Amino acid sequence: MVKSIAAASSLVNKTALLRIDSDVDIKDGKIQDDTRLLASLDTINLLLKRGAEINIIGHLGRPTEENQKDFTLEPVAQWFAGKLHGRVSPITIGRLNAFKITERVNLIENIRYFKEEEENNAEFSRELALLGDLYVNDAFAVSHREHASIVGVTKFLPSYAGLHLKKEVEVLGKILKDPKRPLAVLIGGAKIETKLPMVEKMHHVADYVLVGGEIAEQTRVLIKVQHEKISGQKSAVVVSESTPDGLDIDEKSTENFCQILGLAETIVWNGPVGVTGKGEKTEKATKKLAEFITKTKAYKVVGGGDTLTYLDRIKLLKKFDFVSTGGGAMLEFLSGKKLPGIAALE
Ligand code: 3PG
Repeated sequence: MVKSIAAASSLVNKTALLRIDSDVDIKDGKIQDDTRLLASLDTINLLLKRGAEINIIGHLGRPTEENQKDFTLEPVAQWFAGKLHGRVSPITIGRLNAFKITERVNLIENIRYFKEEEENNAEFSRELALLGDLYVNDAFAVSHREHASIVGVTKFLPSYAGLHLKKEVEVLGKILKDPKRPLAVLIGGAKIETKLPMVEKMHHVADYVLVGGEIAEQTRVLIKVQHEKISGQKSAVVVSESTPDGLDIDEKSTENFCQILGLAETIVWNGPVGVTGKGEKTEKATKKLAEFITKTKAYKVVGGGDTLTYLDRIKLLKKFDFVSTGGGAMLEFLSGKKLPGIAALE
């Protein structure tokens, strides 16, 4: 069981080090979908109400060097300033660059500017721990990563789950334990290296695994290689065919996916099946699937940055029963794996 921050009483004169999901899609300095940021507000408000000051840690994308301009969290700081009635000014906390948002809230600049973050470096974790009296993880989407601000820091501070993370564990935990079947899992999108092992794992958990888009070709190879080795429950794995330009899945596959999804009582979706954000032509199948899924009676769960951005844009996100901030993290959790960030809180 994870300890919830809701159980911590007075936090007057304490500083909370809060890890959030801040990895949002930003174009020309504008946040495309703020679902992940909104998810952190309940915990922030609770901490403020209990009297704490807050140093927020977040990351954006996968920068390859320190202070790479495209990866700054400044737009995120501006977003929080809007919500918390503050004003952004640059400061330093220890040796880290940060943004002051209000008298009691600071946002530390992209933590992935430091390679020690992804190395889960112990010295770096200790340095982060000096920035708070307690640690709160509300970053479900990164909890599958064994990083300093997710795992390392918990060794040095009393550590709690944020309200959003707790909710993810409760809702997804129920699906993992006893889903209403048939359970269909639709996997698309980028980050193939994270998701391909999930296709294999989901094979034991779901009744149908539908794989669409860029990841489809590699799944075909994987299935050929692995199929004989898999024992226990096996789901039907259905892999899409692409359109001639390779940027979307073809109509026949889309129809086939819809037919299967129509049988499901629970649907979990991560990843658009075609390229999104570059014109409607390559969004056809993703749009059709979104429209179809939201009309079914199944319990519908969706997760992952690109998928949320797209569904928000076509105004279908609110039709899902549960929106997870996690993409890879959601799939790993549902495959039965204990996420390192959650295990560290237990
Ligand atoms: C996500 O977008 O899924 C999370 O921010 C994790 O990102 P990562 O795959 O770069 O670790």
